[in-house]
Amino acid sequence: MHRVFKPSISLRPALLLLTPIAIALLAACTPDNAQSTFGTAGPIAEDQANLFIFIFWIAAVVFVLVEGAVIYVSIRYRRRSDSDKLPHQTHGNTKLEITWTIIPAIILIGVAIPTLSQIWGQQSGVPTDQGEVLSVEAIGHQWWFEFRYPDHEIITANELHIPVDRPVAFKLTSQDVIHSFWVPKIAGKVDMVPLNDNFIWMIGTEPGVFYGQCAEFCGIAHAHMRFRVIVDTEEDFQAWLNGMHTAPDAPTPGSPEASGQQLFAANCSSCHTNNSTGPGSYAQEINIQQARWNGWLADTENASIVSAPNLTHLGDRLTLGAGLKDLNQDSLIGWITDPSSVKIGTRMQQHAAIYDTPDGRAKISASEISDIATYLLSLKPGTGAVPDPVDDSSAGTAIDAVAVFATNCAVCHSTADDKKVGPGLAGIGDRAATRVSGLSADEYIEQSIREPGAFVVPDFVAVMPTDFSKLGDDTIDALVTYLKTLK
Ligand code: CUA
Repeated sequence: MHRVFKPSISLRPALLLLTPIAIALLAACTPDNAQSTFGTAGPIAEDQANLFIFIFWIAAVVFVLVEGAVIYVSIRYRRRSDSDKLPHQTHGNTKLEITWTIIPAIILIGVAIPTLSQIWGQQSGVPTDQGEVLSVEAIGHQWWFEFRYPDHEIITANELHIPVDRPVAFKLTSQDVIHSFWVPKIAGKVDMVPLNDNFIWMIGTEPGVFYGQCAEFCGIAHAHMRFRVIVDTEEDFQAWLNGMHTAPDAPTPGSPEASGQQLFAANCSSCHTNNSTGPGSYAQEINIQQARWNGWLADTENASIVSAPNLTHLGDRLTLGAGLKDLNQDSLIGWITDPSSVKIGTRMQQHAAIYDTPDGRAKISASEISDIATYLLSLKPGTGAVPDPVDDSSAGTAIDAVAVFATNCAVCHSTADDKKVGPGLAGIGDRAATRVSGLSADEYIEQSIREPGAFVVPDFVAVMPTDFSKLGDDTIDALVTYLKTLK
């Protein structure tokens, strides 16, 4: 008698264990789940779901027939005695072998035709008969998504606005490693590959907020690399486009927002742009983002700047940390205080000088962090309201060049001698007179502000905006005087 294999786990506990696991896994399939591909909200996701269901039923029929045959044969032809005599041995049956070669081939052709036609249909371009096509460039970064609207000169991050019932054509790329762009309920998914543009298009057919997720393992925070797609009515979408070109109202002097604005300029703005509303700001942000990337790449351990999400009109967003948390004062304070405790691996804590402390937490006070959060949440399209006029007694007297520098220059220039996007400015007064022959120190510094492209310091990229003449003659004079004092 052969020894019969006996499982060491008895059946009942195993079933008791497997049932909740199976229920938990199947719950993920409910169409209501935010990332379920069954509750679709766009024609591409719907076609893909229908294709899945079609193939699923073919596979189910094959499974039932094959397993049924196995069970039938196992019972019908089971060993019926203890005799070791072999049954009659056969080999080869041409008819059967041709049959079970042809049937799978027919099934595979039946699967291939709709699959390939959908792939080609999806990749052969955007339907032009379903309304004006919106172009979007989606760029993967470790670990967040950048969205550019080239026809509208808008840049945003982690929250994508698209108009309902209009085709959107995406150019997909990555700045660093391979990511994957996936909006389960609307369309997906296509890889975002560095130096190789990929394409996807989608139509959202229901207004609402939909989840997106990076679907290619891309490093430690891959699972936290999410985004939201906000499908707007056409009217809301146009309002959003207009809002993205409307600067926020200036904070009231002395308010937490005003304090937060100064703190943001001094501590956060070399990596995060938060004012891409004006003409030229789109191209400028693209250049600065590239310069940040180059800076990080040059020294991935110690770089003081890294690529980071654009925060223009952050106050209008729903989420924080690339779709990770709901955005509100508390979550933002928690994030600024200790970002890696919210999202492991985020580069801001490793690289920004503000976190250069023994415990890695921000070196500004809790009330200062709160002011930055208040300020960021106040960033929304302005209403044109003008803050209360500043006390007349101080108006028109002195220009606060330190504040002008913090707001306008500190994003790219240190007042010491460390490099940011641009050169550190310590000692600029001493070297300015020798930079360009024929220009005095004052003239050189003023030229550098008004025409930054006229002379670019070697090893730096000409990314400085060219619109600083808008500061006005008096402010520029005050700035030149202040810069000459930096030692
Ligand atoms: Cu990006 Cu995974």
